[in-house]
Order: sequence, then structure tokens, then C-alpha cells
Amino acid sequence: MSIEIEILNGDASWTAAEPLFNAVWPAHEVEKLPWGHVKWAHPDLRVLIDAPEGGLACHVGIFFRTVSWNGRKVHIGGIGGVSTRADCRRRGYASIALNAAVQTMRDHDAAQFALLFCEPHNFAFYQSRDWHPFTGEIDAEQPEGKIRFEAMAPFVLDLRRRAPRQGTIDLCGLPW
Ligand SMILES: CC(C)(COP(=O)(O)OP(=O)(O)OC[C@H]1O[C@@H](n2cnc3c(N)ncnc32)[C@H](O)[C@@H]1OP(=O)(O)O)[C@@H](O)C(=O)NCCC(=O)NCCS
Repeated sequence: MSIEIEILNGDASWTAAEPLFNAVWPAHEVEKLPWGHVKWAHPDLRVLIDAPEGGLACHVGIFFRTVSWNGRKVHIGGIGGVSTRADCRRRGYASIALNAAVQTMRDHDAAQFALLFCEPHNFAFYQSRDWHPFTGEIDAEQPEGKIRFEAMAPFVLDLRRRAPRQGTIDLCGLPW
């Protein structure tokens, strides 16, 4: 079976991604979660995989950002909005989309390392795919100003250089 993967401009492809977001993260459930009120960045690119039975099956957002690590500017890649429709899970779609996102960061940008945020039930998923916990501090922007971002755990992936495991990363913008 062949799988078609598209990598599209983030803003232009929002309408394609929106039904999947609404199904995986319904607003009435999200608002009760510890991260329910976080204002998130919009991805620069999206990896989309269609379901053979129709509709969007899987989404991964790709972000590019110049952040600061211990006060030094560094250009990095980000992954966010990783989601597979409930009836399409455990077919390998998220793994395929994640690989495509990482390959895109390696091929098309000077991203030095990659960063994502996730909840404890997904730690094993990312750790088995070469992501490492970042044990330092994360600062980010929110509408009220700069905050220490602790709503989800940060994980890093080595790209052009070994990703830092400690220190302070200032996202210099909204989290993803
Ligand atoms: C987390 C999530 C994106 C995974 O999506 P998915 O498409 O089911 O992921 P995959 O199929 O690539 O992998 C899931 C598991 O199924 C296994 N799997 C993959 N293909 C399989 C197959 N054909 N048969 C059986 N198992 C399979 C994988 O090995 C993996 O297990 P592992 O983590 O122990 O290695 C999905 O569960 C989801 O959308 N969850 C809700 C939203 C969420 O939490 N997103 C993460 C935000 S960081």
C-alpha cells in the first residue's frame, strides 16, 4: 500500500488540518487540561497524511525559530500538533509523518537541533525515536508576557549538532 505524504505551508493548509485538530483535541476537553489555556504558535509547515478511507489521518506541524540557549542565539526546528485520527492509529502514520518532518528540517533549513513538548503518556513514543528529555528550563511568550513554560515536558533531537540537554532555552516567541 502506498502512502501519500504532503508537506504544505502551515497557514494555507490550516483548513485541511482543522477537522483533525477538532476531533483529537475538542475545545471542551482541552479547556480542562493544564495546558488548555496556552496560546500556541502556528506551524511554518505541516506534514499531512490522508487516510485511504478518506479524510486527513495524520498531522505533524513543523516550526522554525531562532531561540536563545543560555543567552546565545541558535536556530532550531520544532515539532508540534502531532496527531492521528483515532480510527487510524497504530498504523505507523505518526512515525512516518514525524520522520518526514525531521527529514524536512535536516534538508531545508539550518536548524541545529529540534525541540518538541509532550505529555507523560507520549514520552516513550518519542524516546524510542531518538528524542531525549531536555532537563533545563524553557521560557516562552504568552499574551501576558514572558513565562517559564512548564505545561509540557521538552524533548530534543540532534540535527546538525548535538542538542543541549540542560540550560535555559528562551523560545523568543509563543510555544509550539
Ligand atoms: C500519539 C499519536 C500521534 C500516535 O499516532 P499513531 O499514528 O498511532 O503512531 P504510530 O502508529 O506511528 O505508532 C504508535 C504505536 O503503534 C505501533 N504501530 C505502528 N504501526 C503498527 C501496526 N501496523 N500494527 C501495530 N502497531 C503498530 C508503533 O510501534 C507505536 O508503538 P511504540 O510507540 O511502542 O513504538 C496518536 O496516538 C494521537 O494522535 N494521540 C492523541 C494526540 C497526542 O497525544 N499527540 C501527541 C502530541 S505530542
